[in-house]
Amino acid sequence: MSITVEAAKPRIGGIVHVDKDHLLDDETIETVRHELEQRGVLVFPQINASDELQLAFTDKLGDRVNFTRQVPGSDASSPDVYKITLDRALNSEPDYVLGTFFWHIDGITIDQPLPKATVLSARKLSDSGGATEFANLYAAWDLLPEAEKRALENLTVIHSVEAAVRPVHGHPSEERRARYKAMAAVMEQPLVWTHEDGRKSLLLGTHADGIVGMPGPHGRALLTRLQQWAAQPELVYTHNWTVGDLVIWNNQGVMHRVVPYTDEGRVMHRTTIAGKEKPGHAATEEHIQRIFEIA
Ligand SMILES: [Fe+2]
Repeated sequence: MSITVEAAKPRIGGIVHVDKDHLLDDETIETVRHELEQRGVLVFPQINASDELQLAFTDKLGDRVNFTRQVPGSDASSPDVYKITLDRALNSEPDYVLGTFFWHIDGITIDQPLPKATVLSARKLSDSGGATEFANLYAAWDLLPEAEKRALENLTVIHSVEAAVRPVHGHPSEERRARYKAMAAVMEQPLVWTHEDGRKSLLLGTHADGIVGMPGPHGRALLTRLQQWAAQPELVYTHNWTVGDLVIWNNQGVMHRVVPYTDEGRVMHRTTIAGKEKPGHAATEEHIQRIFEIA
């Protein structure tokens, strides 16, 4: 056995011990696939993968997702490796990166199957802040009281980029709104996602802006409460990075955010693995309008 996985916390997180030379082995890939379902997020401490190795690992796990190319600030010279940094020399739209300070699921406002997993490696770190937190959205569902599960089961949620960056920009300019519209969709997603394997998870994040059929404030209050529930400490793994760490998470069952940092030197390299399941669809104009009504 060239790979072992130890639990980081009982309900989320695993630390993977494998030699870099065995990262692409079939046994490693099968173990990673299995453990991602169980543990949500896996850490490969100081494995020091190059972009080439990170891409090869990504390719072994599935198809590279294309939405990386649509993200503002993508580096055209290496479109499948997205640089998450506030350094304008590497990422021309660091404002978009500030949205990562808030809980989110990658790619949830793109009208395509939800990305299966995200791979992130630490290239340069900030002097303070910069840890990444992961919350288990399968466990968040499993642990809800039965009566609450019944009340939530059939609700539908509106997700938008505009909501995701509202904590960053407040009310966006018309020009910015137009750009959001060009790069993403306003999506309707089930609050409770029943995956093809029958397991259920919540779909939550700052991009969740309202519940279909509910006045805006009621929907947002419920979503805020559920987000706080899902982010309770025992369901969260916080990764304090060391340069060379590589982390992969099950983007279909985990939400994440970064502890705020200001250091423009911090650089993370992200690759994304496409999903096959598409829980939602583009929102109707009527449903979008309703979440801006207050009664
Ligand atoms: Fe993210």
